[in-house]
Amino acid sequence: MKQNQNYRWPKLELGACYYPEHWSESLWESDLDRMLQHGITTIRVGEFAWSLTEPEEGVFTYDFWDRFLDLAEEKGMKVIFGTPTATPPAWLTEKYPEVLNARRDGVLYRHGTRRHYNYNSPKYRELSSRIVEKLAQHYAQRPCIVGWQVDNEFNCETQEFYSESDNVAFREFLRAKYGTLDVLNQAWGAVFWNQTYTDWEQVHVPRTTYGDGTNPNQKLDYIRFVSHSTLSFCEMQVKILRKYCKPGDFITTNGIFGSMDNHKLTREILDVYTYDSYPNFAYAMDADPRGDKNLRDRKWSRNLMEVRSICPHFGIMEQQAGTGGSATMSAPAPKPGQMMLWVMQSVAHGAEYVSFFRWRTATFGTEMYWHGLVDYDNRHNRKLAELQRLNARMQAIQELAGTDYVAPVGMVKDYDNIFDTQTDAWHQALTRQSEQEIFVGCQLAHTPLDAVYLQEGMEAKELRETYPVLFCPHQEILSPENAQLLEEYARLGGTLILGARTGQKDVQGHCVMQPVPGLLTGAAGTQVVECTFIGPGDDPVPMVWEGKELPTGIFNEVLEPVAPETKVLARFGGDTWYAGEPALTCTPVGNGRVFHLGGCFTRETVEALLKELQVYEPFQDRVTVPAACEIALRRKGDQDYLVVLNYEREPQEIVLNTAMVDLDTRCQVQGPVELGSYETKVYRIL
Ligand code: GAL
Repeated sequence: MKQNQNYRWPKLELGACYYPEHWSESLWESDLDRMLQHGITTIRVGEFAWSLTEPEEGVFTYDFWDRFLDLAEEKGMKVIFGTPTATPPAWLTEKYPEVLNARRDGVLYRHGTRRHYNYNSPKYRELSSRIVEKLAQHYAQRPCIVGWQVDNEFNCETQEFYSESDNVAFREFLRAKYGTLDVLNQAWGAVFWNQTYTDWEQVHVPRTTYGDGTNPNQKLDYIRFVSHSTLSFCEMQVKILRKYCKPGDFITTNGIFGSMDNHKLTREILDVYTYDSYPNFAYAMDADPRGDKNLRDRKWSRNLMEVRSICPHFGIMEQQAGTGGSATMSAPAPKPGQMMLWVMQSVAHGAEYVSFFRWRTATFGTEMYWHGLVDYDNRHNRKLAELQRLNARMQAIQELAGTDYVAPVGMVKDYDNIFDTQTDAWHQALTRQSEQEIFVGCQLAHTPLDAVYLQEGMEAKELRETYPVLFCPHQEILSPENAQLLEEYARLGGTLILGARTGQKDVQGHCVMQPVPGLLTGAAGTQVVECTFIGPGDDPVPMVWEGKELPTGIFNEVLEPVAPETKVLARFGGDTWYAGEPALTCTPVGNGRVFHLGGCFTRETVEALLKELQVYEPFQDRVTVPAACEIALRRKGDQDYLVVLNYEREPQEIVLNTAMVDLDTRCQVQGPVELGSYETKVYRIL
């Protein structure tokens, strides 16, 4: 059903989120003029404005958007139109309370904020389809419209749905999946604690239970169900939009949020994916126990890595423009140069459209402290001056459009395991630590890293050709297909690095009755003898690798080599009962090899592994950069580009080890270059 598969912006473009309904109409014209003067050529509108078109049930009025879109067309402003289903009107929720989402104990979430609906209410689906159809029928042919955003931030605010419609739909989902209650009972291990079901009416979405000891196998299926519901609600709207869209217009939605398979959504339903990037959240809620002050906003690159994996050429639908917050949270404004830095961070990872949230700060409502480009007083300001410079810059670096991010190292993930971390505290703790540390380790080593999602149709050969090295931190749920794919990747010459608890579970989330790493035991050449958490009161346990002590994180597995060719590279150290036992092994497999780490990944281990595997600072023949800078290498055909980002207020010196053209100055440069406060550089490598 996809139309414009892999929609690409024709060139790098800037945009803004605009809410004409928040302002007097007398401001519209000057707002659009000022945006265009500052290089904003596209705006997103309408995503919360249902009542403007349907003020009463079944009564449709088009005057407001007709007037606004006429003006946009007169000015030459392009428009992304949002479907308004994130905020059902008061008349709707009052008359049909079954459309509301509910708390786990059944209490309904009432009107007064947003995203208070559920995806499965037949009434909500009917009324949502109708408003989308009316909007599309009326506006889709307007020349100013270039694309559609479906809803707003699916699964933001909450990823849990417990309404009666969800109950009914969950049963349907399970019936389609399992057919009979016997099979369901088996899949959920329902015999444990006497949960066996004898009638479908007894089956529910998770409900209030003592201490949330709810059956984890039930919860895993529930999260899969939420993902299924989200995608099907989105698809319902997309099918309608497709009937009316002009050829070439795109359909997107903005993310990323949990309990949904964003890859499938983009692959099968959307034309292109967009992300909402707020790096200054990192300053408001930096919970990193290791206090990586220098990685605060830079950690947003981890989210951008995820977005790249969903859609390598994406848009930023909302890019942080000002100080932000609400009654419960506050985040500082981007410092001079930081707004440009954050845009360049997005561009470095593959954004070809960057739209600011928002044009002008709202003077009322829940978000009146979320500052946009223009403040309440509507005067010219520092942010607009920076936007003007950014606009000139976007023109200078247009060559970057259409380039691809190059990463020699990947981090294996999949949705079964992501969903399992949401139900399983062990899995979650290990994954949080390892994914964060692999990311930080690679950032500090200037080793670009990709998130590699195992998906249907993925081929070992392609994986091998793209990534010499794959970290596979905690693939606890291991399907036979994925085990085979990973083993084949190694056989073809790849280096696969497994962490603790690999292969511990099957796709139902049941622990397997075989030695771990389960289906990869043969390839890894190891078996886990026993395992343990390292409690908060325990001393951390190091492993000793070539005389050096390296931390092994919050979980340890004592390994036993079972293949004659398996080498023990490191043994546990410290004052523990398993000191001296194998902690890290390496086994040759075909043309490649499998490492097995009996622990979680830490940045120190990642650094040691990257060095061992010769992917530490892989682009050092081109550039030498200090720890404070991130690099991205982008490629189009034979042409390479280098983006360097300084996240610090202090200037940083980099050294270009080969001749390059600075795309801003058009000058050829080589040797030392100083990057000022938050400065970024874009080079064409000669
Ligand atoms: C996004 C959302 C916007 C606005 C913004 C600032 O998550 O899509 O509507 O709420 O955050 O909070």
